[in-house]
Amino acid sequence: MPNYINMQPLAHHSLQSLNTLGVPAHAAWYLAVDSVDTLKAGLARAEREGLPWLVLGGGSNLVLTRDYPGLVLHMALRGRSLVDETESHYYITAQAGENWHELVQWTLEQGWPGLENLALIPGTVGAAPIQNIGAYGLELAERLVYLEAFDTQTRQVVRLDKSVCGFGYRDSIFKRQPQRYIILNVTLALPKAWQPVVTYRDLAESLAAQGIGTPTAAQIFDAVVAVRQRKLPDPARLGNVGSFFKNPIVSAVQQQALLARFPQLVSYPQADGAYKLAAAWLIDQCGWKGKSLGRARVHDQQALVLVNPGQATGADILQLAQAIQRDVQARFGVMLEPEPHIL
Ligand code: EPU
Repeated sequence: MPNYINMQPLAHHSLQSLNTLGVPAHAAWYLAVDSVDTLKAGLARAEREGLPWLVLGGGSNLVLTRDYPGLVLHMALRGRSLVDETESHYYITAQAGENWHELVQWTLEQGWPGLENLALIPGTVGAAPIQNIGAYGLELAERLVYLEAFDTQTRQVVRLDKSVCGFGYRDSIFKRQPQRYIILNVTLALPKAWQPVVTYRDLAESLAAQGIGTPTAAQIFDAVVAVRQRKLPDPARLGNVGSFFKNPIVSAVQQQALLARFPQLVSYPQADGAYKLAAAWLIDQCGWKGKSLGRARVHDQQALVLVNPGQATGADILQLAQAIQRDVQARFGVMLEPEPHIL
């Protein structure tokens, strides 16, 4: 039987410390989900009372622009272990409520490299597949084998292989069908024939500057941590949700036309012939870096990051984001798409 003592939701619960922007908002109801039974009971109660519900992980990809009128299900499933080992791979399963960066550290400590490029990404394991977290030349999809989720349509726990997750750049079926699946755990394959991934320029430069030719996983981890700490604000000190916009993908024709007008344009060719533009560069060119609008500000080290210097609300952040979108659209004819979930 489910533990009903544990599933008594709390009313009017503050979410300020549960979102990394640190903006004020309350949930009408809040429930910490530490088992699948608690999750089922919470969903059943929301349905009975006609309440909307929202799954919250680390709150690092969420912009709360007002109070939430429904039930917040705060993912607290814990545990991580080696579940299988073959000649070629270690298989690790981690529960959705685990902290992502701690998982990366733990795998390295165990001698299972492969996640080091994804060091210091804020948030939980359960949130990682939603936007297919990626940084410094590696995406989660390259390591994920399958995940388990609660299917809210069939009310069953299902196993979803990577092939059906629809992973793309900052994209997945979980992002496109937000209320369908609640991720419970993920299983990752870490290759025994580990090879360093040092394709990303910042990372390669940082290692070269230290005179490191063939880095170990620990050296990559340290270099990624150092680069991130230099460019991205620590959410514990300065509220933020990482990159606020996706890097826009444009056609080769549009990229050529932009390049003709802006020879310094930063763009990366994609496998399908399209180009990814550096949103940070577009925003920077519009003069937004380090600038404030109301109580919200653009980070002074990375123009793609919007920060809460202390008193900003989600609405302030949104207003700044919209002003940036207007300027980038007017100057470059490119519409920036927000990356976090705006509520
Ligand atoms: N740039 C500027 N001005 C700036 C910052 C950057 O002009 O203020 C230019 C630079 O020329 C730089 C280029 O933009 O070469 C790209 O900047 P950066 O290397 O910092 O990466 P990004 O494209 O802005 C992406 C991810 C980050 C990830 C890094 C490293 C997205 C939306 N963002 O940022 O992910 O850490 O690459 O892989 O894809 C996140 O999603 O929250 C996140 C932080």
